[in-house]
Amino acid sequence: MSEAPMIEVRELNAGYGRFHILFDVSLEVEPREIFIIVGPNGSGKSTLLKTLFGLTKVYSGSVKLEGRDITRIPPHARAKLGMAYLPQVGNVFAELTVAENLKMAGYTLEASELEERIRDVLEVFPFLKQKLNAKAKTLSGGQRQLLAMAMALIREPKVFMFDEPTAGLAPKAAKEIIDKMLWLRKEKGKTIVLVEQNAKLALEIGDRAILLVSGRVAYRGKASELLADKELGKKYLGLKG
Ligand SMILES: Nc1ncnc2c1ncn2[C@@H]1O[C@H](COP(=O)(O)OP(=O)(O)OP(=O)(O)O)[C@@H](O)[C@H]1O
Ligand SMILES: [Mg+2]
Repeated sequence: MSEAPMIEVRELNAGYGRFHILFDVSLEVEPREIFIIVGPNGSGKSTLLKTLFGLTKVYSGSVKLEGRDITRIPPHARAKLGMAYLPQVGNVFAELTVAENLKMAGYTLEASELEERIRDVLEVFPFLKQKLNAKAKTLSGGQRQLLAMAMALIREPKVFMFDEPTAGLAPKAAKEIIDKMLWLRKEKGKTIVLVEQNAKLALEIGDRAILLVSGRVAYRGKASELLADKELGKKYLGLKG
């Protein structure tokens, strides 16, 4: 029996009110895949991620999760079905402590289950153990991204959708984020959808990718082939030819 794609997008047209941003976008994300979305500034990468999570207006087309049509269901229902969306900024509660953030992330869980999940994620992100009573705003940018990942992991989603998690981070911090993604896939069997401005970094670790240009799919295929495509890379991704 063949497995349904984790996410299947067909001929999607979406935007904000009357601002039509995405045009006829189709893609498939397989289970346990690292799927990359790249493209120039303003090409619609964030809009696509938001659309997958139900935050924009869909004019036509469909989004399916494991074969189930979710095009018209609200974000909280998608979260319940196993989608986690991590926006670039504002993905932790700055004024709350790390411990409080972790509890907030799992507020729908039973107390005993929440405790167990927090214990588990602290094993995955051990640096958080020393930071439990620190306010999230005192963490470094990289640590905040890792806290956001830990918060998402508490709900045990099937799919993690990241919007530029390494933006503004030093290479070492960016690598730590990427390593945790690879771990999520390898050890936890999670599916990753990653929007990145650092196209090289993302395409090196990705399985498949799309290139968005002005809201349309300009490339769809293997991440490694897009990385090797001198013309597209130079024209749209700032990669050296
Ligand atoms: N809330 C909104 N209302 C109307 N238009 C919007 C809104 N958010 C974004 N846009 C427009 O949608 C287009 C795509 O924006 P989007 O943020 O998806 O691009 P992006 O590829 O993520 O860009 P970046 O690389 O800068 O993050 C842009 O023209 C932008 O101005
Ligand atoms: Mg964006």
